[in-house]
Amino acid sequence: MLALAQQRYSVRSFTSQPVADEALQYILEVARLAPSAVNLQPWSFVVVRERSMLDSLATVYAREWFASAPCCIVVCGNHNEAWHRRYDGKDHCDIDIAITTEHLALAAAEQGLGSCWVCNFDAAACKQLLQLPEGVEPIVLLPIGYPAQDSVPEKKRKTLEEIVTWR
Ligand SMILES: Cc1cc2nc3c(=O)[nH]c(=O)nc-3n(C[C@H](O)[C@H](O)[C@H](O)COP(=O)(O)O)c2cc1C
Repeated sequence: MLALAQQRYSVRSFTSQPVADEALQYILEVARLAPSAVNLQPWSFVVVRERSMLDSLATVYAREWFASAPCCIVVCGNHNEAWHRRYDGKDHCDIDIAITTEHLALAAAEQGLGSCWVCNFDAAACKQLLQLPEGVEPIVLLPIGYPAQDSVPEKKRKTLEEIVTWR
């Protein structure tokens, strides 16, 4: 697990090689097995591979590198299905989506694929583009592809001393 966590990094430069079906099935299966609050699994995944749809998706996150990915998984959360904590109504949808998305990202890395979490996109435009039903929000775009040769990891992290307290 440590090796996989070290291996995964945000890839923002892809080759044009299509992602193999088996690799996609594998990473989606890993995502399916993610834990969620009260096991409600309030997620759905739109796997975008058609060039015209990838181009449309690139209008909601206008970055050249993003448009060059041969595949993008739109990770959606259903706020009507997600667990809301009784005490204060806290919606756990985003937490569940984050867990399953990182399952996707780690499984992709394991398969030799690169990916990058993208949240800084026009979610309303994306929802309209994909014609998502009421209550369903596109929460993360995860472009996926084989890393190009110029793709380099930059794993800057705080030290354990900075972030851990022991009591
Ligand atoms: C919730 C979340 C949202 C992110 N949104 C974006 C984004 O919109 N665009 C982008 O280029 N990277 C985005 N990232 C990637 C982060 O910048 C990246 O994970 C962080 O700098 C650490 O680098 P690493 O992934 O290479 O380890 C996002 C990451 C997370 C976890």
